[in-house]
Amino acid sequence: MKKLLICLVSLLALTVYAAGGDVEVVDLGDGHGLVRINPTQRYLILPVEDTAPDVSISVMADNMQVETFTVRLAVNKVDYTVPYDLSKVAGKHVVLRFAMSPLERGKERPKVKESAFCSRLTLANSFDASNRETLWRPVYHFAPQYGWMNDPNGMVYKDGEYHLFYQYNPYGSRWGNMNWGHAVSRDLVSWEHLPVAISPDGLGTIFSGSAVVDKNNTAGFGAGAIVAFYTQASVRQMQSIAYSTDNGRTFKKYAGNPVLTGEVGDFRDPKVSWHEGSKKWIMALAVGQEIRFYSSPNLKEWTYESKFGEGQGCHDGVWECPDLFELPVAGTSHKKWVLVVNINPGGPFGGSATQYFVGSFDGHKFVNESPNVTKWMDFGKDHYATVTWSNAPENRVIALAWMSNWQYANDVPTMQFRSANSVPRDLQLFQLNGETYMQSAPSPELLKLRSEQVMSKSFTVGKEYSIGQLMDNNAGTYEITMTVRQKKQGSLTFRLMNQQGEEIEYRLDMAKRELTCIRDKSGVADFSKDFITSTVTQVEGGDLQLRFIVDRCSVEAFVNDGRFVMTNLVFPHTPYNKVVLNATGGSVQVKNFTVYNLKTN
Ligand code: FRU
Repeated sequence: MKKLLICLVSLLALTVYAAGGDVEVVDLGDGHGLVRINPTQRYLILPVEDTAPDVSISVMADNMQVETFTVRLAVNKVDYTVPYDLSKVAGKHVVLRFAMSPLERGKERPKVKESAFCSRLTLANSFDASNRETLWRPVYHFAPQYGWMNDPNGMVYKDGEYHLFYQYNPYGSRWGNMNWGHAVSRDLVSWEHLPVAISPDGLGTIFSGSAVVDKNNTAGFGAGAIVAFYTQASVRQMQSIAYSTDNGRTFKKYAGNPVLTGEVGDFRDPKVSWHEGSKKWIMALAVGQEIRFYSSPNLKEWTYESKFGEGQGCHDGVWECPDLFELPVAGTSHKKWVLVVNINPGGPFGGSATQYFVGSFDGHKFVNESPNVTKWMDFGKDHYATVTWSNAPENRVIALAWMSNWQYANDVPTMQFRSANSVPRDLQLFQLNGETYMQSAPSPELLKLRSEQVMSKSFTVGKEYSIGQLMDNNAGTYEITMTVRQKKQGSLTFRLMNQQGEEIEYRLDMAKRELTCIRDKSGVADFSKDFITSTVTQVEGGDLQLRFIVDRCSVEAFVNDGRFVMTNLVFPHTPYNKVVLNATGGSVQVKNFTVYNLKTN
């Protein structure tokens, strides 16, 4: 009898693994399984192994499929956990169905009962999102609390709030399960995290897009409604809309979705704006390697107007995330139209980058005034998917970039979250040698972060000039500004270093008028061979104003208030706290070398 009992218990143990009273894992053999849940608490806590293969999970409530999503269910070890919100299936019988994916192509699927997640699935009423990335979580750049982020989406200003939506995977720190995450800010430097705004549905996951304030109720969703436009991605891509009448706190999807379909595979990232001249809404859409323009009186019905791109700019990758806006030309009283086109790969230093075209737009067609010139917005490696806020106050045009590069974004050495955005930048145009270029100056709100001026001095750099310590208690968030008296030849290198000897180096070649950034010794850099590429920007002659904006995992270098910019990630083991300058070809004068400590409230 005792033997029989032991036998029965071990038989049961082969099929049912209790992971805590209200959660049962059922092994269906060959890597297939079910999780039966009695949803007595708010969250199912899912154990993730960051590099395990994605497992597709179907959620059933009272036998009906509610949704599917993917999670890298932990096989060998648990790197972190993510919460699945059970409130949407409260009071129902919940079953998750899944099949483990083989760890390697052609291999068997891992065994459910031997996989690490199996005994670690639990229910909980709260999820601990407190920061575990103490080294590299940025302080004043936006980053999600946990999970993956790419492009900024739906950026719109309304009633004192800057809304930032973003490509978000709530179930892991790698790309997948695209939702629109959401945060708001009143000052562009401190952000309040809000719940996910738009989630996948039967038409697909939620890819990039934009949002507008429909002041005159052209769509009929209510005057002042925020209307969001996004690509729904499944096997093909199409454009859908959702609206909010409570300042973005909740969105209702339009029942007539999709509002725009096409016959091309890459058909995405709608950026909508009001065109005053033609009194129509205009949508710029990335279609393969061109931008198509559509118009609409009511945000729901769209008419094709024209396309742009063939033979212009860089075509070494797919065109994505367009933006179209008018900007004043500094020092003149006129404005010109700018078409921003993000491209991946094909950037000047490999991978992702932002190009733009300057010209005219009449509500129907964009005409590039310099069809033979390719213009880049930023000369760093980590500046992509750049778009601007709709409806920004005082006619400002404020841009934000995703501060990463598709070459290695999934592998950067943070785990709780992956990716942050650049600092916001105010845009205008300037003229140089007969061409019109875009200037991206750090938004004035950043000045608020200057909590104290740590030093300010002028000096001459002979062979070498060092500043042994930038500040006591350096928390890795500061800004350095200086004026370099350029000469006709010679060079100046500027290195930011820490005690470990890690450094980011900027080299100014005054004969070539080139500024190069080298980050191969900047800290953890071996997660991708593509990370250690140097980046270069052309600069102009005369005194150069340099401004380095430093946060925990980035250095953004602005030359002459954003006429030339380089945005680069770095992962030092401790904050850079020392500066070494070297001159060749004679001494170089540095004026007003000033260091500010930066802090949020
Ligand atoms: C750009 C992009 C977009 C797309 C989104 C998907 O980084 O590829 O074109 O909508 O990311 O997450």
